[in-house]
Amino acid sequence: MPVILAIESSCDETSASVCVDGEILSNVIANQTIHEAYGGVVPELASRVHQQNIVPAVQQALLNAKVNKNDIDAVAFTRGPGLLGSLLVGVSFAKAFALAKNLPLIDINHMQAHILAHFIGDHKPTFPFLCLTVSGGHTQIVLVKDHFDMEIIGQTLDDAAGEAMDKTSKILGLPYPGGPLIDKHARSGNPDAYKFPEPQIPGYNFSFSGVKTAILYFIRDNVAKNPNFIQENLADICASVEKRIATILLNKLKRAAEEYGIKDIALAGGVSANTGLREGLTNLCADKGWNCFIPKFEYCTDNAAMIAIAGHYKYLKGEFVGQEVAPLARMPFG
Ligand code: KG4
Ligand code: ZN
Repeated sequence: MPVILAIESSCDETSASVCVDGEILSNVIANQTIHEAYGGVVPELASRVHQQNIVPAVQQALLNAKVNKNDIDAVAFTRGPGLLGSLLVGVSFAKAFALAKNLPLIDINHMQAHILAHFIGDHKPTFPFLCLTVSGGHTQIVLVKDHFDMEIIGQTLDDAAGEAMDKTSKILGLPYPGGPLIDKHARSGNPDAYKFPEPQIPGYNFSFSGVKTAILYFIRDNVAKNPNFIQENLADICASVEKRIATILLNKLKRAAEEYGIKDIALAGGVSANTGLREGLTNLCADKGWNCFIPKFEYCTDNAAMIAIAGHYKYLKGEFVGQEVAPLARMPFG
Protein backbone atom coordinates (compact mmCIF):
# COMPACT_ATOMS: atom_id res chain seq x y z
CA MET A 1 0.00 0.00 0.00
CA PRO A 2 2.49 2.69 -1.07
CA VAL A 3 1.65 6.21 0.14
CA ILE A 4 2.94 8.76 -2.39
CA LEU A 5 3.16 12.51 -1.95
CA ALA A 6 3.31 14.19 -5.37
CA ILE A 7 4.29 17.72 -6.42
CA GLU A 8 3.56 19.48 -9.72
CA SER A 9 5.04 22.91 -10.49
CA SER A 10 5.99 22.86 -14.19
CA CYS A 11 4.10 25.95 -15.30
CA ASP A 12 1.65 28.18 -13.42
CA GLU A 13 -0.21 25.71 -11.19
CA THR A 14 1.24 24.69 -7.83
CA SER A 15 -0.28 21.34 -7.03
CA ALA A 16 0.12 18.62 -4.40
CA SER A 17 -1.56 15.24 -4.20
CA VAL A 18 -1.59 12.16 -1.99
CA CYS A 19 -2.12 8.72 -3.48
CA VAL A 20 -2.50 5.53 -1.41
CA ASP A 21 -2.19 2.22 -3.23
CA GLY A 22 -3.05 3.85 -6.57
CA GLU A 23 -6.07 5.71 -5.23
CA ILE A 24 -6.01 9.52 -5.26
CA LEU A 25 -7.01 10.84 -1.82
CA SER A 26 -6.34 14.53 -2.46
CA ASN A 27 -5.45 16.85 -5.31
CA VAL A 28 -4.90 20.48 -4.28
CA ILE A 29 -4.31 22.98 -7.10
CA ALA A 30 -3.29 26.58 -6.43
CA ASN A 31 -3.81 28.62 -9.61
CA GLN A 32 -1.83 31.76 -10.35
CA THR A 33 -3.92 34.74 -11.40
CA ILE A 34 -0.98 37.15 -11.51
CA HIS A 35 -0.29 36.34 -15.20
CA GLU A 36 -3.69 37.53 -16.46
CA ALA A 37 -2.45 41.11 -16.70
CA TYR A 38 0.45 40.08 -18.97
CA GLY A 39 -1.32 37.94 -21.58
CA GLY A 40 0.82 34.89 -20.83
CA VAL A 41 2.84 33.19 -18.09
CA VAL A 42 5.75 35.33 -16.83
CA PRO A 43 8.33 32.71 -15.74
CA GLU A 44 9.97 34.80 -13.01
CA LEU A 45 6.61 35.62 -11.42
CA ALA A 46 5.50 31.99 -11.72
CA SER A 47 8.45 30.67 -9.71
CA ARG A 48 7.96 33.32 -7.01
CA VAL A 49 4.29 32.38 -6.60
CA HIS A 50 5.21 28.66 -6.52
CA GLN A 51 7.50 29.47 -3.59
CA GLN A 52 4.59 31.08 -1.73
CA ASN A 53 2.10 28.32 -2.55
CA ILE A 54 4.05 25.09 -2.23
CA VAL A 55 4.04 24.60 1.54
CA PRO A 56 0.32 25.46 2.01
CA ALA A 57 -0.59 23.25 -1.00
CA VAL A 58 1.26 20.26 0.48
CA GLN A 59 -0.21 20.87 3.95
CA GLN A 60 -3.71 21.01 2.48
CA ALA A 61 -3.14 17.87 0.39
CA LEU A 62 -2.07 15.92 3.51
CA LEU A 63 -5.01 17.32 5.48
CA ASN A 64 -7.57 16.47 2.78
CA ALA A 65 -6.17 12.95 2.45
CA LYS A 66 -6.07 12.53 6.26
CA VAL A 67 -2.50 11.28 5.88
CA ASN A 68 0.28 12.10 8.33
CA LYS A 69 3.62 13.17 6.82
CA ASN A 70 5.29 10.35 8.75
CA ASP A 71 3.24 7.78 6.80
CA ILE A 72 4.55 8.81 3.36
CA ASP A 73 6.63 6.16 1.53
CA ALA A 74 7.98 8.25 -1.38
CA VAL A 75 7.92 11.72 -2.89
CA ALA A 76 7.15 12.04 -6.61
CA PHE A 77 7.73 15.30 -8.48
CA THR A 78 7.59 16.75 -11.98
CA ARG A 79 11.16 16.85 -13.25
CA GLY A 80 10.27 18.30 -16.68
CA PRO A 81 9.45 19.47 -19.27
CA GLY A 82 8.43 22.95 -18.15
CA LEU A 83 9.68 26.34 -16.99
CA LEU A 84 13.03 25.79 -15.30
CA GLY A 85 12.44 28.25 -12.43
CA SER A 86 8.99 26.79 -11.72
CA LEU A 87 10.29 23.21 -11.85
CA LEU A 88 13.14 24.14 -9.55
CA VAL A 89 10.71 25.09 -6.75
CA GLY A 90 8.90 21.73 -6.89
CA VAL A 91 12.10 19.71 -7.30
CA SER A 92 13.80 21.53 -4.39
CA PHE A 93 10.77 21.04 -2.14
CA ALA A 94 10.55 17.33 -3.02
CA LYS A 95 14.28 16.85 -2.37
CA ALA A 96 14.17 18.70 0.96
CA PHE A 97 11.11 16.76 2.12
CA ALA A 98 12.65 13.44 1.08
CA LEU A 99 15.94 14.32 2.79
CA ALA A 100 14.22 15.35 6.03
CA LYS A 101 12.08 12.21 6.16
CA ASN A 102 14.65 9.85 4.62
CA LEU A 103 12.33 8.92 1.72
CA PRO A 104 13.00 7.79 -1.85
CA LEU A 105 12.45 10.29 -4.68
CA ILE A 106 10.59 9.53 -7.90
CA ASP A 107 11.10 11.78 -10.95
CA ILE A 108 8.17 12.10 -13.33
CA ASN A 109 7.91 13.32 -16.92
CA HIS A 110 4.98 15.79 -17.03
CA MET A 111 3.80 14.69 -20.51
CA GLN A 112 3.84 11.01 -19.53
CA ALA A 113 1.90 11.92 -16.38
CA HIS A 114 -0.85 13.60 -18.45
CA ILE A 115 -1.27 10.22 -20.18
CA LEU A 116 -1.03 8.18 -16.97
CA ALA A 117 -3.92 10.24 -15.52
CA HIS A 118 -6.03 7.62 -17.33
CA PHE A 119 -4.99 5.13 -14.66
CA ILE A 120 -6.81 7.09 -11.97
CA GLY A 121 -10.12 5.33 -11.31
CA ASP A 122 -11.60 2.16 -12.77
CA HIS A 123 -12.02 3.01 -16.46
CA LYS A 124 -8.45 2.25 -17.60
CA PRO A 125 -7.27 1.81 -21.20
CA THR A 126 -5.60 -1.43 -22.31
CA PHE A 127 -2.07 -1.46 -23.78
CA PRO A 128 -1.24 -0.64 -26.47
CA PHE A 129 -3.39 2.47 -26.81
CA LEU A 130 -3.08 5.79 -28.60
CA CYS A 131 -3.16 9.06 -26.71
CA LEU A 132 -3.59 12.51 -28.19
CA THR A 133 -1.80 14.76 -25.69
CA VAL A 134 -2.67 18.40 -26.22
CA SER A 135 -1.43 21.10 -23.87
CA GLY A 136 -0.18 24.67 -23.88
CA GLY A 137 3.29 23.59 -24.99
CA HIS A 138 2.85 20.17 -26.64
CA THR A 139 0.75 18.38 -29.23
CA GLN A 140 1.59 14.70 -29.54
CA ILE A 141 0.11 11.44 -30.73
CA VAL A 142 1.65 8.85 -28.44
CA LEU A 143 1.66 5.08 -28.86
CA VAL A 144 1.47 3.88 -25.25
CA LYS A 145 2.86 0.34 -25.02
CA ASP A 146 3.21 0.24 -21.24
CA HIS A 147 3.13 2.67 -18.31
CA PHE A 148 6.60 4.00 -19.13
CA ASP A 149 7.11 2.63 -22.63
CA MET A 150 5.73 5.38 -24.85
CA GLU A 151 6.58 6.35 -28.43
CA ILE A 152 5.71 9.72 -29.92
CA ILE A 153 4.50 8.92 -33.45
CA GLY A 154 3.48 12.47 -34.35
CA GLN A 155 3.88 15.96 -32.94
CA THR A 156 3.61 19.61 -33.81
CA LEU A 157 6.33 21.12 -35.95
CA ASP A 158 5.65 24.61 -34.56
CA ASP A 159 2.86 25.86 -32.25
CA ALA A 160 0.97 23.57 -29.88
CA ALA A 161 -2.82 23.27 -30.06
CA GLY A 162 -3.22 25.12 -26.73
CA GLU A 163 -0.92 27.86 -27.98
CA ALA A 164 -3.11 28.26 -31.07
CA MET A 165 -6.15 28.60 -28.77
CA ASP A 166 -4.36 31.09 -26.50
CA LYS A 167 -2.96 33.17 -29.37
CA THR A 168 -6.36 33.31 -31.09
CA SER A 169 -7.98 34.51 -27.90
CA LYS A 170 -5.30 37.20 -27.61
CA ILE A 171 -6.11 38.36 -31.17
CA LEU A 172 -9.76 38.51 -30.07
CA GLY A 173 -8.83 40.66 -27.07
CA LEU A 174 -9.68 37.99 -24.49
CA PRO A 175 -7.51 37.53 -21.35
CA TYR A 176 -5.02 34.69 -20.73
CA PRO A 177 -5.46 31.71 -20.67
CA GLY A 178 -7.71 31.90 -23.68
CA GLY A 179 -8.54 28.23 -24.29
CA PRO A 180 -11.34 28.02 -21.69
CA LEU A 181 -12.82 31.34 -22.97
CA ILE A 182 -12.81 30.17 -26.61
CA ASP A 183 -14.61 27.07 -25.33
CA LYS A 184 -17.17 29.15 -23.39
CA HIS A 185 -18.01 31.49 -26.31
CA ALA A 186 -17.99 28.62 -28.83
CA ARG A 187 -20.94 26.98 -27.07
CA SER A 188 -23.36 29.61 -28.40
CA GLY A 189 -21.76 29.95 -31.85
CA ASN A 190 -22.03 28.30 -35.27
CA PRO A 191 -18.93 26.12 -35.90
CA ASP A 192 -19.51 26.32 -39.68
CA ALA A 193 -19.77 30.12 -39.82
CA TYR A 194 -16.16 30.58 -40.96
CA LYS A 195 -13.77 28.20 -42.66
CA PHE A 196 -10.08 28.15 -41.74
CA PRO A 197 -7.51 26.07 -43.67
CA GLU A 198 -6.46 22.55 -42.71
CA PRO A 199 -2.66 22.28 -43.07
CA GLN A 200 -1.38 19.41 -45.22
CA ILE A 201 1.45 17.99 -43.11
CA PRO A 202 2.84 14.53 -43.91
CA GLY A 203 2.53 11.62 -41.48
CA TYR A 204 1.08 12.18 -38.03
CA ASN A 205 2.75 15.53 -37.44
CA PHE A 206 0.87 18.78 -36.93
CA SER A 207 1.39 22.45 -37.71
CA PHE A 208 -0.67 25.25 -36.21
CA SER A 209 1.29 28.34 -37.22
CA GLY A 210 -0.44 28.60 -40.64
CA VAL A 211 -3.88 28.31 -39.04
CA LYS A 212 -2.94 30.97 -36.51
CA THR A 213 -1.80 33.34 -39.29
CA ALA A 214 -4.98 32.63 -41.29
CA ILE A 215 -7.08 33.52 -38.23
CA LEU A 216 -5.02 36.69 -37.64
CA TYR A 217 -5.49 37.90 -41.26
CA PHE A 218 -9.16 36.95 -41.24
CA ILE A 219 -9.79 39.05 -38.11
CA ARG A 220 -7.62 41.94 -39.32
CA ASP A 221 -9.38 42.12 -42.72
CA ASN A 222 -12.86 41.92 -41.22
CA VAL A 223 -12.15 44.47 -38.48
CA ALA A 224 -10.87 46.85 -41.21
CA LYS A 225 -14.31 46.57 -42.87
CA ASN A 226 -16.33 46.59 -39.64
CA PRO A 227 -14.68 47.77 -36.37
CA ASN A 228 -17.32 45.84 -34.36
CA PHE A 229 -16.71 42.57 -36.23
CA ILE A 230 -15.27 40.76 -33.19
CA GLN A 231 -17.96 41.88 -30.71
CA GLU A 232 -20.76 41.07 -33.17
CA ASN A 233 -19.45 37.64 -34.14
CA LEU A 234 -17.41 36.44 -31.15
CA ALA A 235 -19.36 33.21 -30.58
CA ASP A 236 -19.23 32.22 -34.28
CA ILE A 237 -15.49 33.02 -34.51
CA CYS A 238 -14.72 30.95 -31.38
CA ALA A 239 -16.90 28.04 -32.54
CA SER A 240 -15.27 28.02 -35.99
CA VAL A 241 -11.72 28.22 -34.58
CA GLU A 242 -12.46 25.48 -32.06
CA LYS A 243 -13.94 23.25 -34.78
CA ARG A 244 -10.92 23.71 -37.07
CA ILE A 245 -8.38 22.97 -34.32
CA ALA A 246 -10.39 19.93 -33.17
CA THR A 247 -10.75 18.52 -36.71
CA ILE A 248 -7.02 18.96 -37.44
CA LEU A 249 -6.26 16.95 -34.28
CA LEU A 250 -8.94 14.30 -34.74
CA ASN A 251 -8.27 13.66 -38.44
CA LYS A 252 -4.65 12.73 -37.66
CA LEU A 253 -5.61 10.70 -34.63
CA LYS A 254 -8.19 8.79 -36.68
CA ARG A 255 -5.61 7.95 -39.37
CA ALA A 256 -3.09 6.83 -36.76
CA ALA A 257 -5.65 4.59 -35.04
CA GLU A 258 -6.69 3.03 -38.36
CA GLU A 259 -3.13 2.48 -39.54
CA TYR A 260 -1.91 1.07 -36.21
CA GLY A 261 -5.10 -0.98 -35.79
CA ILE A 262 -5.68 0.38 -32.27
CA LYS A 263 -9.11 0.57 -30.66
CA ASP A 264 -8.39 2.20 -27.28
CA ILE A 265 -8.10 5.94 -27.88
CA ALA A 266 -7.33 8.48 -25.18
CA LEU A 267 -7.17 12.25 -24.84
CA ALA A 268 -4.90 14.09 -22.37
CA GLY A 269 -3.50 17.53 -21.48
CA GLY A 270 -5.08 20.92 -20.83
CA VAL A 271 -6.82 21.17 -24.22
CA SER A 272 -8.60 17.86 -23.52
CA ALA A 273 -10.89 20.02 -21.32
CA ASN A 274 -12.23 21.51 -24.57
CA THR A 275 -15.90 20.69 -25.17
CA GLY A 276 -15.67 20.54 -28.96
CA LEU A 277 -12.66 18.22 -28.88
CA ARG A 278 -14.25 15.95 -26.24
CA GLU A 279 -17.46 15.72 -28.25
CA GLY A 280 -15.54 15.18 -31.48
CA LEU A 281 -13.55 12.28 -30.05
CA THR A 282 -16.63 10.76 -28.41
CA ASN A 283 -18.48 10.82 -31.75
CA LEU A 284 -15.47 9.47 -33.68
CA CYS A 285 -15.08 6.55 -31.27
CA ALA A 286 -18.81 5.80 -31.30
CA ASP A 287 -18.73 5.84 -35.10
CA LYS A 288 -15.71 3.53 -35.30
CA GLY A 289 -16.59 1.24 -32.40
CA TRP A 290 -13.46 2.35 -30.52
CA ASN A 291 -13.13 2.67 -26.73
CA CYS A 292 -12.89 6.32 -25.78
CA PHE A 293 -10.92 7.58 -22.75
CA ILE A 294 -11.40 11.21 -21.79
CA PRO A 295 -10.07 12.43 -18.41
CA LYS A 296 -12.26 14.07 -15.80
CA PHE A 297 -11.94 17.87 -16.02
CA GLU A 298 -9.83 18.04 -12.84
CA TYR A 299 -7.22 15.74 -14.44
CA CYS A 300 -7.06 17.55 -17.83
CA THR A 301 -5.18 20.70 -16.90
CA ASP A 302 -2.05 20.57 -14.76
CA ASN A 303 -2.50 18.72 -11.47
CA ALA A 304 -0.42 16.65 -9.04
CA ALA A 305 -2.81 13.68 -9.05
CA MET A 306 -1.38 12.63 -12.41
CA ILE A 307 2.13 12.92 -10.93
CA ALA A 308 0.99 10.81 -7.97
CA ILE A 309 -0.44 7.99 -10.11
CA ALA A 310 2.68 8.00 -12.30
CA GLY A 311 4.73 7.93 -9.08
CA HIS A 312 2.70 4.96 -7.85
CA TYR A 313 3.59 2.89 -10.93
CA LYS A 314 7.27 3.91 -10.77
CA TYR A 315 7.32 3.00 -7.06
CA LEU A 316 6.04 -0.47 -7.94
CA LYS A 317 8.89 -0.79 -10.45
CA GLY A 318 11.37 0.37 -7.77
CA GLU A 319 12.66 3.23 -9.94
CA PHE A 320 14.02 6.02 -7.75
CA VAL A 321 16.43 8.94 -8.20
CA GLY A 322 19.04 10.40 -5.84
CA GLN A 323 19.41 13.82 -4.26
CA GLU A 324 21.61 14.93 -7.19
CA VAL A 325 18.56 14.99 -9.52
CA ALA A 326 18.00 18.31 -11.36
CA PRO A 327 14.96 19.66 -13.24
CA LEU A 328 14.91 19.52 -17.04
CA ALA A 329 13.24 22.25 -19.12
CA ARG A 330 13.19 19.75 -21.98
CA MET A 331 12.77 16.14 -21.04
CA PRO A 332 12.49 13.28 -23.53
CA PHE A 333 10.42 10.20 -22.64
CA GLY A 334 12.71 7.92 -20.66
O1 KG4 B 1 -1.71 20.86 -19.76
P1 KG4 B 1 -1.91 22.28 -19.43
O2 KG4 B 1 -2.75 22.63 -18.22
O3 KG4 B 1 -0.54 23.02 -19.23
C1 KG4 B 1 0.56 22.68 -20.01
O4 KG4 B 1 1.22 21.66 -19.66
O5 KG4 B 1 0.77 23.40 -21.02
O6 KG4 B 1 -2.53 22.99 -20.72
C2 KG4 B 1 -2.83 24.36 -20.76
C3 KG4 B 1 -3.49 24.69 -22.10
C4 KG4 B 1 -3.65 26.19 -22.32
O7 KG4 B 1 -3.23 26.48 -23.64
C5 KG4 B 1 -5.15 26.40 -22.17
O8 KG4 B 1 -5.65 27.50 -22.92
C6 KG4 B 1 -5.69 25.09 -22.68
O9 KG4 B 1 -4.82 24.11 -22.14
N1 KG4 B 1 -7.06 24.82 -22.23
C7 KG4 B 1 -8.12 24.75 -23.06
C8 KG4 B 1 -9.26 24.52 -22.23
N2 KG4 B 1 -8.84 24.43 -20.94
C9 KG4 B 1 -7.49 24.62 -20.96
N3 KG4 B 1 -8.21 24.90 -24.40
C10 KG4 B 1 -9.42 24.79 -24.94
N4 KG4 B 1 -10.57 24.58 -24.23
C11 KG4 B 1 -10.53 24.43 -22.88
N5 KG4 B 1 -11.65 24.21 -22.21
ZN1 ZN C 1 0.42 20.01 -18.69
